[in-house]
Amino acid sequence: MSVYFPEGRNIQPFPGVSTSLYALDDPAGTVVMINEVAPGAVVPQHVHDEHQIGLCLRGGFIMEVDGRDYPIPALETAYFAPGGTPHAARNESGATAVTVDIKRKPVPGEEGQLTRSPPGAVALPLTEMRAVKGGLGISFFVGPWFEIMLSSLQPGARMPLHSHRGIQIGIGVSGTYTMQVGEEIRPFGPEVVYHAPEYVPHSGWNDESRDATSLNVFIPPRWNLRPKRERA
Ligand SMILES: [Fe+2]
Ligand SMILES: [Fe+2]
Repeated sequence: MSVYFPEGRNIQPFPGVSTSLYALDDPAGTVVMINEVAPGAVVPQHVHDEHQIGLCLRGGFIMEVDGRDYPIPALETAYFAPGGTPHAARNESGATAVTVDIKRKPVPGEEGQLTRSPPGAVALPLTEMRAVKGGLGISFFVGPWFEIMLSSLQPGARMPLHSHRGIQIGIGVSGTYTMQVGEEIRPFGPEVVYHAPEYVPHSGWNDESRDATSLNVFIPPRWNLRPKRERA
């Protein structure tokens, strides 16, 4: 049984929505849900204490947060619905959408304004992709106290073994690469989720012949932090 690569469990939370649910065994009770949302499917308005962060991997949908609609095209815009905010979703696109939700109980001390994301922003645009050493391209959806990195690994790309403060959660998007978390080494691609708890070493490398992309969530952010003196 894996510690760092949680097993998905299939559920049908709403008509037309089929979900693989990955529960991370962490104090915030974090769950990652990867959803296939049929054309016309509606997630009715609801509210919960957990924060909800989400985006779309394929297709697009409309996210409603606090009575306002936000179009969420695949891998262009993420959203943030803070705990206690009413929200709903619907797929008006005529095609199946594949979406991701991350739900997480509020953690005391976690929710400061640590980045330059505009306070209160719901829609989080993707920043421009930039190339970093080792054959990686990275861009970000930046929230107030979290960031989601969209990374692309060329064939031969390597993210060296490292560990750090804060947690990191990964969701495979396209292609496959190899991911190591602690002692566990697994193929990482679509429908695979990893969880690197604080200070657990992890690395990734692409030994395949095509590019692979993934989403990597950092709480707190690592790349888009404001200088310490500017943080609220
Ligand atoms: Fe929700
Ligand atoms: Fe990391």
